[in-house]
Amino acid sequence: MRSTRRALTAVVSAAALLVASACGSGDDDETRATKVEVFTWWAEGGEKAGLDALVGRFTTSCAGQTFESGVVPGGAGINAKQVLNARLQQSDPPDTFQVHAGAELLDHIDAGQVADLTADFASWGLREALPDGLVDGLTVNGKIYSVPAGVHRANVVWTNDQVLSDAGILQPPKSLTELVGNLEKLRAAGVESPLALGRDWTQLMLLEAVLISDLGPQRFTGLFTGATGWDSRAVGKAIEHYATILKYSNKDRDSLDWPQAQRLLIDGKAGYQLMGDWAAAELEADSFTGYETFVFPGNGTAFQWLADSFTLTTGAANPDGARCWLRTVASPEGQQAFNARKGSIPARTDAPTTGFTDYQIDAAADWRSGTPVPSCAHGSACSQPWQNAANAALGAFSTSGQTRVLQSALAAAAKQFLRQQ
Ligand code: GAL
Repeated sequence: MRSTRRALTAVVSAAALLVASACGSGDDDETRATKVEVFTWWAEGGEKAGLDALVGRFTTSCAGQTFESGVVPGGAGINAKQVLNARLQQSDPPDTFQVHAGAELLDHIDAGQVADLTADFASWGLREALPDGLVDGLTVNGKIYSVPAGVHRANVVWTNDQVLSDAGILQPPKSLTELVGNLEKLRAAGVESPLALGRDWTQLMLLEAVLISDLGPQRFTGLFTGATGWDSRAVGKAIEHYATILKYSNKDRDSLDWPQAQRLLIDGKAGYQLMGDWAAAELEADSFTGYETFVFPGNGTAFQWLADSFTLTTGAANPDGARCWLRTVASPEGQQAFNARKGSIPARTDAPTTGFTDYQIDAAADWRSGTPVPSCAHGSACSQPWQNAANAALGAFSTSGQTRVLQSALAAAAKQFLRQQ
């Protein structure tokens, strides 16, 4: 369970916000009371397909309520989070917003921007239906503030089989050394950028995967609790490995979002891409089937998890409608519809798996049997300011290539943002 030092402040600010929203009755209150603004970053492709499926369930289950899309495009919410923060600060919140389960929510809780959903959680049967570890990750000072829609795995590599077989690569690499060997083979075969990569947060994902291989799941998780030092030799070595791998990626990486990097894979300009398993829905949207997947080399049974969740804002104009949205997200039918399209697996253990791919069935089994490790790039491991600092450090490294500077920046971020979480 997480704890937060500013819990009391949060309760006081939440109360103040509730009073403020109760007093402020605008002209359009009546219309707003039937609209639920759902704020996400799922604007197109496989991501939108998942959202649309959820909206379909919402429309059926919440008669009289209308879905209003508050969408800001940009992978991993890189733009949406900035817009959301500005809106929250200006007391213009959506009714509900997408957030990752775990540490990413802490600052919103501290600021009193999200409502306590503990009672709803119990009445929607989520306490029994979710795995204990996930409930624990969602709990802050004994309370729960978001409803998880599904669980994604981050540490997955996607391939272009044709590109690999043309270079004589027929097996997935089992270690970082083998991965680098294959990248070299691809380059020798004329593939200039064998690893498709995008901007800062996708680079952070790659570094995290390398860290899991080099440190193992337990010491990796310790990086976010203070048990493992970012300034340690082991992290330094992992950063060197990361720097080697980065050299095989496309030079325009800093200007690409993840679907554009994925395009390099589809077009046969790269052999590999590390990306979370939302990649499958996007490949499907692009009708590309010539791929395989494997867990990042050296990660073993580590399941790097993240959970897309939804909140109820304390200033919501339509809290009843937003609750109906959340109840839909929480329901077994909602989770089936959403995850079947999104490529994730239901957070609930009792949701039907109709329409799920073989990959999803395997991922669900791995989630049950693997070693869970959190993700900083996707909010389960670190708070939003910490994630921003890590993204900035990776973006700077992409240009400078200075390993020591990267390690110091990551160590400084941990020192600044590590708190009891
Ligand atoms: C993650 C999110 C996924 C997917 C991905 C790429 O942070 O949890 O659902 O949307 O970003 O945008």
